[in-house]
Amino acid sequence: MERLQKVIASLGYTSRRKAEELIKKQKVMVNGQIVQELGTKVEPSDIISIDGKVLNKEIKYEYYVLNKPRRVISSVSDKEGRRTVCDFVDTKERIYPVGRLDYDTTGLIILTNDGKLANHLMHPSFEVEKTYIAKIKGQLTSEDIFKLKQGIIIDNRLTKIKRFKIKHKNLEKDTSLIELTIIEGRNHIVKRIFNELHHDVIKLSRISYGFLTLDGLKSGEVRPLTIKEVKKLYNL
Ligand code: URA
Repeated sequence: MERLQKVIASLGYTSRRKAEELIKKQKVMVNGQIVQELGTKVEPSDIISIDGKVLNKEIKYEYYVLNKPRRVISSVSDKEGRRTVCDFVDTKERIYPVGRLDYDTTGLIILTNDGKLANHLMHPSFEVEKTYIAKIKGQLTSEDIFKLKQGIIIDNRLTKIKRFKIKHKNLEKDTSLIELTIIEGRNHIVKRIFNELHHDVIKLSRISYGFLTLDGLKSGEVRPLTIKEVKKLYNL
């Protein structure tokens, strides 16, 4: 038996937190009964409905990797009508991005309707390495390098930098290209790291996520993950 909110999230309907809100608002029924308690557990044979709609347990799971262009939003839909990462995938399934990249950030993002994998990958204890290339204003000083090696405190939490290297310096334009690998998934984390060092991020791209890279994917291109890759993501 599993907790109701976990089951709803793993069916890809919504996040676990939002499922909890729906339960609190008494919008969720199990076998025709409104659920009153957050801790309710369900069996695989139980029929779960939200707002009167039965959740389909026979979802065909799909997994994609997209090379996200700039000016694309990392969500399922956008009130302002901007392009979303989901617009790049031709499917009828209700897929969504795993985590998010900023509107102006490019690069690798996973899309799926497998809530279990998405939760697994986004859980803070799941230390997947993400590598970014940041074009920053200015040059890293020896003090900046020292701080990056120590880790940067953001909102009272130490953000460790697994690896970093200066890929290129443009002294004329006073910009630098820095490759850095982190395990953190907090919003705007790379920009916040550099802001702590007083460097603006001019461009940002995620070039890898765990073992996945952008090899063979041009900007705006998407490909399905292989079964082997999905298994590897589960086992990372
Ligand atoms: N860090 C950022 O600042 N932005 C992103 O899009 C991803 C990581």
